[in-house]
Amino acid sequence: MRGADRDRYLLERRHQVSAARRWLLLQTAYTGEARRSTLDRLPFAPGSPIYDLGCGFGAMSLELAERFAATVVGLDVDAECLKTAGELAQAVPPARGQVEFRRADVTQLPPQWPRPHSAVARFLLQHLPEPEQAVVAWSQLIQSGGYLFLEDVDDGYTVQYPPPPPPWQRLLEAFTQLQALRGGDRQVGRKLAHLCLHAGLKLVRVECVPWATVRRESLEDPAVAFERERVVEEKSALLEAGLVTPEEFEQGIAAFAAAFPRVTYLSTATVQVLAQKL
Ligand SMILES: C[S@@+](CC[C@H](N)C(=O)[O-])C[C@H]1O[C@@H](n2cnc3c(N)ncnc32)[C@H](O)[C@@H]1O
Repeated sequence: MRGADRDRYLLERRHQVSAARRWLLLQTAYTGEARRSTLDRLPFAPGSPIYDLGCGFGAMSLELAERFAATVVGLDVDAECLKTAGELAQAVPPARGQVEFRRADVTQLPPQWPRPHSAVARFLLQHLPEPEQAVVAWSQLIQSGGYLFLEDVDDGYTVQYPPPPPPWQRLLEAFTQLQALRGGDRQVGRKLAHLCLHAGLKLVRVECVPWATVRRESLEDPAVAFERERVVEEKSALLEAGLVTPEEFEQGIAAFAAAFPRVTYLSTATVQVLAQKL
């Protein structure tokens, strides 16, 4: 119940965060149920200290604390996300456990910080230029017997019908390339198990968690509007990187708008890996 209250709180704040963070905020709110069902599959011991690496708006940090009566430290580089996370914690605090949010680059954590028993990194590795080094560092950070839980995207699982119109599809591909140029990887899901093995962790569970929906969509739907907005926000970066021409950009946006209203089938999956430090 408190989890759903947090999703609602975040949704109500969507006009108070910057446009650049709005997509993440909506995603956090809309995927609340899937996030909470993940908690059922985590074996964390009650009361154990946990780091939520790249915690974003902090919903998972709060839910981890509540579920495991744990002391959770939510870490992120983004001050705006952390500010909202702190406000969310005040508005709907965890019924059990404790949460603290700290600003930090989780690829360079100070060695003097207390070591958590376990750590969680959801949808973070897709943004990191050196995921191998990051997972090695996290495997050294957690205590023996503790767990590292990773969850991330893999665009290889995405199927849409009817398919996106070709000019919009080209724009989406340019958007993915932009993320890759920044060091990100939208196919990191398939690599999570390898990253853990490389770091010397024992694989406990590997799952591909599918999700499918059929929706009657119009251009006015918030989710549709934000799909467009997410790309529009990157217009100058896409043009500067030479990934699209101004004409291709405008054609893509026009094709997107022309595709609605429509009934859309969309299926995708995230990859979850639970690994243990022996
Ligand atoms: C896609 S969001 C995921 C947020 C959250 N884990 C969730 O599941 O909703 C990725 C988050 O990682 C943060 N991030 C990216 N690189 C980071 C780094 N090197 N150190 C700490 N946080 C980072 C971003 O600021 C963003 O909040």
